Amino acid sequence: MRAVVLVGGFGTRLRPLTQHRPKQMLPLLDRPMIEWVAEHLGRAGVDEIVLALGYKPEAFLDAYPEGTCAGVRMRYAVEPEPLGTAGAIRFAAAELGLDRGDEPFLVVNGDVITDLDIGELVDLHRSSGAEGTIALSPVDDPSRYGVVPIDRDGRVEAFIEKPDASTAPSHWINAGTYVLEPALLARIPADRAVSVERETFPAVVAEGGLYALESDAYWIDAGTPETYLRVQLDLAQRRTGPDASWIHPTATVAPTAHVERAVIGAGVVVADGATVVRSVLGAGSRVGAGSTVHRSVVGPAAIVGDGASVHGLSVLGDAVELAPGAALRSARLPDGE
Ligand code: GDD
Ligand code: MG
Repeated sequence: MRAVVLVGGFGTRLRPLTQHRPKQMLPLLDRPMIEWVAEHLGRAGVDEIVLALGYKPEAFLDAYPEGTCAGVRMRYAVEPEPLGTAGAIRFAAAELGLDRGDEPFLVVNGDVITDLDIGELVDLHRSSGAEGTIALSPVDDPSRYGVVPIDRDGRVEAFIEKPDASTAPSHWINAGTYVLEPALLARIPADRAVSVERETFPAVVAEGGLYALESDAYWIDAGTPETYLRVQLDLAQRRTGPDASWIHPTATVAPTAHVERAVIGAGVVVADGATVVRSVLGAGSRVGAGSTVHRSVVGPAAIVGDGASVHGLSVLGDAVELAPGAALRSARLPDGE
């Protein structure tokens, strides 16, 4: 089976980390996000993917010049301008000739890390004869997502993208993995940006052609500082066990430092008496003597000066220097870029 992977968004919610690279090229532990996504697809039997690219496409082309990612053959479709999620699907599907075939294909949001059973989704799609079949995950706050109520047979009743929390009719949300028939592509106008969530899926729903599979498998959209942090702590826990930290072998952690449930990248230095808890330290960053990093993300090559503190889901961009003794709480540095 073949898959379109959507990776063309601006990654606005993860700025400033996405100022220099697209969201899906940010690391999760030791590998870019896209490799985790490609690996999951490869394990499900996907033999070729096409990246639907928009923002900073060269980051992917430079990292995977051979056209292989996590062992899966990979092609590129670079949009001339942002086409929206549906426009991107149409544009990238044409690159693989999926629009001229008669086989269903997969589409995934490239910022989702999940253990979803893709085979089960494909089986449901084939048995229902739907035009599209999508995976759903349960979340506490559906207002950030596409909310998708279904009937007893799995037929989608409505597709409501980012509703007010109080009006969401279900806590099952669009998990960003779709099996689509080529016929669905013909619905997408080619001359403008089109959202699959706001336009294409609601049109298919109106004709009763969209089905969904509810799944309790591990699922997270890593597109915000909170979830970018959480997914790495989860992945670290899988590798190292509960409450342990994932520390790259080239990192240096002073014996007097306190490190708890942290992800510490290549070449990082954590100096004497520093405290790092539930945080991610990007490659080459430095946490100075006596400083504290709590529930925050320190970007690559950034420096937290001696005695400084970083708290409350703060994000430090690439090579940023926080002055000695400074305090940062629920803030981004640099801000507003
Ligand atoms: N090529 C291309 N072109 N890709 C795009 C574009 C575009 O114009 N716009 C967004 N993308 C990519 C992003 O890079 C991301 O991988 C994916 O499409 C989804 O976009 P996000 O910006 O991350 O959307 P979201 O997280 O707010 O919402 C989406 O995902 C939720 C689940 O994670 C929606 O699909 C929701 O319905 C869904 O619940
Ligand atoms: Mg997202």
